[in-house]
Amino acid sequence: MPLTLANHCAWHKQAARRLVESIRDLSVEGEWRLEIEDRGLVFETRLQGQKTRFEHSFLDPRLRQRAMQKNQGLLRACNNKRRSIDDILDLTAGWGRDSFLLAAAGHEVTMLEQQPLIAHCVEFLLHIARSEDPVSPCHRMRLVHGNALDYLREGQTADACYLDPMFPTHKSGAKPGKELQILQRLTENRDMEPLFEAALEAARQRVVVKRPLHAPPLMERKPSLQYREKTIRFDIYL
Ligand SMILES: C[S@@+](CC[C@H](N)C(=O)[O-])C[C@H]1O[C@@H](n2cnc3c(N)ncnc32)[C@H](O)[C@@H]1O
Repeated sequence: MPLTLANHCAWHKQAARRLVESIRDLSVEGEWRLEIEDRGLVFETRLQGQKTRFEHSFLDPRLRQRAMQKNQGLLRACNNKRRSIDDILDLTAGWGRDSFLLAAAGHEVTMLEQQPLIAHCVEFLLHIARSEDPVSPCHRMRLVHGNALDYLREGQTADACYLDPMFPTHKSGAKPGKELQILQRLTENRDMEPLFEAALEAARQRVVVKRPLHAPPLMERKPSLQYREKTIRFDIYL
């Protein structure tokens, strides 16, 4: 089904036009409306029969606030006390929220995203955040459209590789936040096991994998370290 697009963006006309050109013929499952605004994007669809809106912008102060909480598992997992981790490959970029946290902590982040609609939207959001905010962490974020496995097979390496595969739906029926439910409707995991193996080769210092708190480790491979949070954990492979 085609997307319904509403372009209200006046400040970044060229970038908004580029976005419209790139996505208008993409077909997506279900009914979707995308509003292009001056400071970000608004997705609208139906989840469990309810109209749901998800706003995304790298200029959102709540994202900044989250980035200020330095005790988070992801930041601890990507911090090596003995040697600095300069560059990170986020192999499953999605909306780029985790990449934003990592970039705000000072890492240079290359983000890989295979789903074209998500990739073009994130590209637009990076562009407007860089144009509006000269000190935005987005200046340290770079997006590559495509399958991360192909990228690693070209021989790319980094200090750390990060994987956040889509989680299976929880047995209890508990649903993740709406930004993740929207991702789950638009996309899927691709080549996750070979990607994990390729990441273990490509990472100079560590691979970090986000998992549901009680899920088995990816490919049942025991991590060297774990950081646990309320519902998720980070498995670290040194
Ligand atoms: C759970 S989401 C990641 C959410 C992300 N950490 C965030 O903060 O928004 C997983 C994403 O990985 C992408 N993905 C899955 N397999 C991939 C692959 N082989 N190469 C590139 N992207 C992939 C999916 O399209 C999806 O957008």
